[in-house]
Amino acid sequence: MPHSLPAEQRHLPVLRDRCVELLLPALQHDGAVYVDGTLGMGGHATAILDAAPQARLVGIDRDAQALDLARERLQRAGHGDRITLVHATYDRIPEVLDDLGLPGAAAILLDLGLSSFQIDTDERGFSYAVDAPLDMRMDPDSGGPTAADLLADLPEEEIARILHDLGDERHARRIARAVVRTRQAAPLTRSAQLVDLIEQAVPAVARHRGGHPAKRSFQALRIAVNRELEILVDALEGALDALLPGGRLAVESYHSGEDRLVKTAFHRRTTSSAPPGLPVELEEHRPRFAALTRGAEKADDAELARNPRAASVRLRAVERLSIPS
Ligand SMILES: C[S@@+](CC[C@H](N)C(=O)[O-])C[C@H]1O[C@@H](n2cnc3c(N)ncnc32)[C@H](O)[C@@H]1O
Repeated sequence: MPHSLPAEQRHLPVLRDRCVELLLPALQHDGAVYVDGTLGMGGHATAILDAAPQARLVGIDRDAQALDLARERLQRAGHGDRITLVHATYDRIPEVLDDLGLPGAAAILLDLGLSSFQIDTDERGFSYAVDAPLDMRMDPDSGGPTAADLLADLPEEEIARILHDLGDERHARRIARAVVRTRQAAPLTRSAQLVDLIEQAVPAVARHRGGHPAKRSFQALRIAVNRELEILVDALEGALDALLPGGRLAVESYHSGEDRLVKTAFHRRTTSSAPPGLPVELEEHRPRFAALTRGAEKADDAELARNPRAASVRLRAVERLSIPS
């Protein structure tokens, strides 16, 4: 994809209008703080600032290139004077607010995973469809290990566990065995090498079933390289704690492992902590949050026709109740 394209054309925000609808009631007062923990191309953020003229944005992303493109977009949309953009991971929302001298957030959005901009930037190595270095870091400046480093250093059992648990790859063991056999001769450094290896490792029938045979392994490696699930666990607790009374948090997941973590964190905060059998619920056991969505919401057919990325989305949202804690 040409690098000159503006952010608007690089990523279609998923369930944009529904996210605006869920968060807007919390953003009706002057200076209301909306934290976008996954700013990306700023699609959701622009729509929310358009709809909430009194709100200001604290936009966070671990990808510095995304922040630059989002800044240009938000400035073009006329929102330049009410944005603060921070290069960080979203588990740091409480510290970021603290550093800015803000007591908390009125609304927070986490739209997890990758943006189309990242997938379409060949040299980042996220795509199995083009040959590129096996990098896959969302923050290439982080100094953390790349996908090539994981494939070079991890034991076979750990590679198999990653492919199975984070990619639902049925042939994880075969692929891990092939990785270890191949790396004894030469390191795996390019995405095309990994695609070839996977195509050879999986049984012939599996090559033509369930999408591209490398799709699940690439997803699994990306999640592992970026420590996505570990960071999400901390981020959910931090974001819930950072909400002011009446504040709202919406999370969009694209993978069953992510959605399970969101569901568990939200369930714990929206249900009573009273031990079963107590005749009355004591104040300290009352939930401090209420669910705004019934289960997980999905994209409808019209959105799926416009935006295939929306196929796997699961949206959940909660509100912090205005009761003294
Ligand atoms: C699906 S995109 C967000 C798209 C955005 N909502 C929009 O409308 O343009 C996800 C973004 O979150 C960022 N991201 C993923 N994990 C992150 C983390 N742990 N901390 C901060 N940003 C993260 C990615 O770099 C990517 O830009």
